[in-house]
Amino acid sequence: MCGIVGFTGARAAAPVLLGGLERLEYRGYDSAGIAVFHDGAIQVEKVSGRIARLREKTEDGALTPGSAGIGHTRWATHGAPTDLNAHPHLSNDGRFAVVHNGIIENYLELRKELIRDGYVFQSETDTETIVHLLEKYYDGDIKTAVMKTAARLEGSYALGIVCTDTPDALYVVREASPLILGVGVEENYFASDVTALVSHTKNVIYLDDGEFAKLTPDSIKVFDCTGCEVKKPVSRVTWSVEAAEKGGYEHFMLKEIMEQPAAVKAALTPRIHDGRVQLDGFELSAEELGGVSKIIITACGSAYYAGCSGRYAIEHLCRVPVQVELASELRYADPMVDEHTLVLVISQSGETADTIAALRECKARGAKVIGIVNVVGSTIAKLSDHVLYTFAGPEIAVATTKGFTTQLTVLYLFALYLAEKLGRIDADSYAALVKELQHLPRRIQQTIDMNWQLPKLASRYASHSLFFIGRNTDYAVALEGALKMKEISYLHAESYAAGELKHGTIALIEENQPVIAVCCNEALMDKTLSNIVEVKARGAKVLALSCKGNKKIVSQADDVIFIPRVETVFSAALAVVPLQLLAYYAAKEKGCDIDKPKNLAKFCAKGHKTRLIRSPTRLWRYKTLS
Ligand code: G6P
Repeated sequence: MCGIVGFTGARAAAPVLLGGLERLEYRGYDSAGIAVFHDGAIQVEKVSGRIARLREKTEDGALTPGSAGIGHTRWATHGAPTDLNAHPHLSNDGRFAVVHNGIIENYLELRKELIRDGYVFQSETDTETIVHLLEKYYDGDIKTAVMKTAARLEGSYALGIVCTDTPDALYVVREASPLILGVGVEENYFASDVTALVSHTKNVIYLDDGEFAKLTPDSIKVFDCTGCEVKKPVSRVTWSVEAAEKGGYEHFMLKEIMEQPAAVKAALTPRIHDGRVQLDGFELSAEELGGVSKIIITACGSAYYAGCSGRYAIEHLCRVPVQVELASELRYADPMVDEHTLVLVISQSGETADTIAALRECKARGAKVIGIVNVVGSTIAKLSDHVLYTFAGPEIAVATTKGFTTQLTVLYLFALYLAEKLGRIDADSYAALVKELQHLPRRIQQTIDMNWQLPKLASRYASHSLFFIGRNTDYAVALEGALKMKEISYLHAESYAAGELKHGTIALIEENQPVIAVCCNEALMDKTLSNIVEVKARGAKVLALSCKGNKKIVSQADDVIFIPRVETVFSAALAVVPLQLLAYYAAKEKGCDIDKPKNLAKFCAKGHKTRLIRSPTRLWRYKTLS
């Protein structure tokens, strides 16, 4: 996900572009750039990092004069977040500059073709193919060049284009990526969402897929994909600037919960081709896999709980032993890791200090490391031997939601890939599970739609300290459910493997104690039901979470949250969603600062560098280096 913006009018464009990009920074924030038409040429300024750096570099836009231009804030997908990969991209002849939000799926073949044609690439991005195509197809008519270019693109795009031959004009075209035109007085705009427009104008035109538009200071003309002009209605935005940033949701966390169907789809789609799972540009050879004696998954916080869930999937499908280790422990544990260990390092940010240290420790001992990371070009992505990106897009709320479900999705894909490579799964089961995986986005949406009663249940159950229980995959969900509750509502929440409850903790169960029982694992249903009976007998109030159609649970629990029926091995990706919402509504009722919970940060980058040394007593100990 990236943000794009454009302006044409009588005043200076750069300050408008920079202000718009700041409002769009939630869509991507690893690099940014602007292109402004000035003195017969397109002046491009771009930097890696935040918009603030671009402001500094351009002296708040003063160094890029001109009254028409385009801007971009990037969330890297193809190529690391560097200055060169930042948008806008320029054509070789300097005639066109382009900003792009979306993904061009056929960019590799286009790139090869354009290189054959003699075009020189400056970046690793998919976007740069677009600007060279424009140059290739341009014969004096920009509309035709844009339409010919668009016809070659597969994937999603919202494009903003400027051309030196028409200094005050902006061109836009969209397919499956948002694009809105802002209608001003003697000035016009475009942007990825209304956030960037509402401080200038509340009159907007929503472009549809396949439509192309030309904007000048005093006109906006829209054309359909056949080139015929279409009359578009002008709508009035009623949102405040603040609400617009969150797409109308009250908090980023709720927005990100609701984005999960799309995020999981983005993690799945590029990796399933003709019913088979493919990894991103790398293969694990039979030889490499033959030498693997165990897998270690290491991470912190929610990413660790994703690992706990992934362990069940990998062990169940691949029959390879999996150890899940907290990175903050593993780094100091003198771990049993060697060249026969495959290590999966999971991190949304890719910058968590303990996780980085655990990764380094494992690599130093000869292990092969696969990073499961959201942020492209992050430290963990760079240090890993291979990376599987989660494609969740920017996650603004501190408490992770779509970051977690996309980590699960990648772990499921990896488990299926490995099971097939190792020959541990028969063709029919493999095909059925791949199909099931492809249904996940729809089922997550159904889970959200089915659970409209959660605000009421949150107020009923989140008034006290809570226990979360479950077995096997349900236990991993209980761990994450309790963490979400603690993180944002500040309520005391503990998670237990349901069978462990009777070994001590049950002493804490008394009249009206809320217990959240995760009970989605069909095979262990009766076992967890017996734990529900045990706590009920001691006065607990039980909210159960189970698959639709489970009648037994209705008779035992006080209240039930349902998810659609799903293969147990993938159930965590659905079951966690109502628990995210439960925590969200509990925090909302308590008036907590949901997106920025107290004492927590999005990633924990502080940490001392340490080195393992052998002391004279031959005991391993850690030496703090800084
Ligand atoms: C912090 C956050 C947690 C997060 C953990 C790991 O502690 O508060 O919500 O799960 O870091 O973050 P990562 O970016 O490595 O997934």
